[in-house]
Amino acid sequence: MAFIRIPKPWHLPENRITSESAYFNRRRFLKTLTGASIGLSATALTGCQTAQGSDDNPLVGLVNLSATANPDFVEGDRPITGRELASTYNNFYEFGGTKNIWRAAQNLPTDPWTVEVSGLIKNPKTYDLDDLTRTFDLEERVHRFRCVEAWSMVVPWIGFPMRKLLEAAEPTAEAKFVRFTSYYDESITTGPGGFRTQSLPWPYIEGLRIDEMANDLAFFAVGMYGQTLPKQNGAPIRMVVPWKYGFKGGKSIVKIEFIAEQPATYWNTLIPNEYKFESNVEPDVPHPRWSQAQEKLLGPGPDFSVELVPTLPYNGYGDHVAQLYI
Ligand code: MTE
Repeated sequence: MAFIRIPKPWHLPENRITSESAYFNRRRFLKTLTGASIGLSATALTGCQTAQGSDDNPLVGLVNLSATANPDFVEGDRPITGRELASTYNNFYEFGGTKNIWRAAQNLPTDPWTVEVSGLIKNPKTYDLDDLTRTFDLEERVHRFRCVEAWSMVVPWIGFPMRKLLEAAEPTAEAKFVRFTSYYDESITTGPGGFRTQSLPWPYIEGLRIDEMANDLAFFAVGMYGQTLPKQNGAPIRMVVPWKYGFKGGKSIVKIEFIAEQPATYWNTLIPNEYKFESNVEPDVPHPRWSQAQEKLLGPGPDFSVELVPTLPYNGYGDHVAQLYI
């Protein structure tokens, strides 16, 4: 975002995407997709390895996931974003300050992985990934995904509602907020180039109010496009909070803590007047340096097309969440 000196948001999609496609050997990439399962029809597949490891394969090591499509969240009027774009056009500042971090992100060690659930709860527990996917039924949901930089995608996620984990944890009456911590190891997550990693408020922390976490829309994703999450998208487990700007969706979560006070979060700590804790998608509230009234919808196909569309209040999910903010 701003301090990392990415190009101005109104330049972002076309320019970045052009350079993405030039950088990226698209033909070779598309070849890796042949035979892989993409899109909604990929649900209810049995687990088996598909993508083969390769330095030129952003989908390296992914596994098919079995999940039931949630009929409330299927593809709507906006088409699903091309998978190759969603897995090569990323923000993951632990691995660099550009959108082209997917190669660097392959250094993220995801096996074994544990998620500590702790704080003001009756049932603290450390889950490994198998525990999580065995304990909570996996479903597939298609959600609009709106970045604060004014680009957007539509992504078919696989995972489970945060509410399920909340119920298992049983917060005490004192718990009012939840702090989500991303993986951080300075020898691996070297940070955006040109900046001293040490001067940034690592690890990446995000937070929600408890009632936001309890909303049916708040989701933990362990997969996308029918398979496990690519590392660059936040493997093996990330937050998806579709009515908020994308930076509220912390990646590669290792700790979930129930606490009494609002947590200090990464972007809000860095630039509090630009990135609020709440950060719901609000077309009428401009970012201090650009309008949020419209967004550049990226995709859907491998042609990296871009369409200018109006931004919707709560990213179009007002029916689900507006009552949280009365
Ligand atoms: N989580 C971590 N740990 N580090 C990050 O830099 N970037 C955020 C969010 N989660 C980020 C993160 C931002 S700014 C966005 S827009 C989304 O991840 C991007 O998710 P994507 O790369 O899967 O599109």
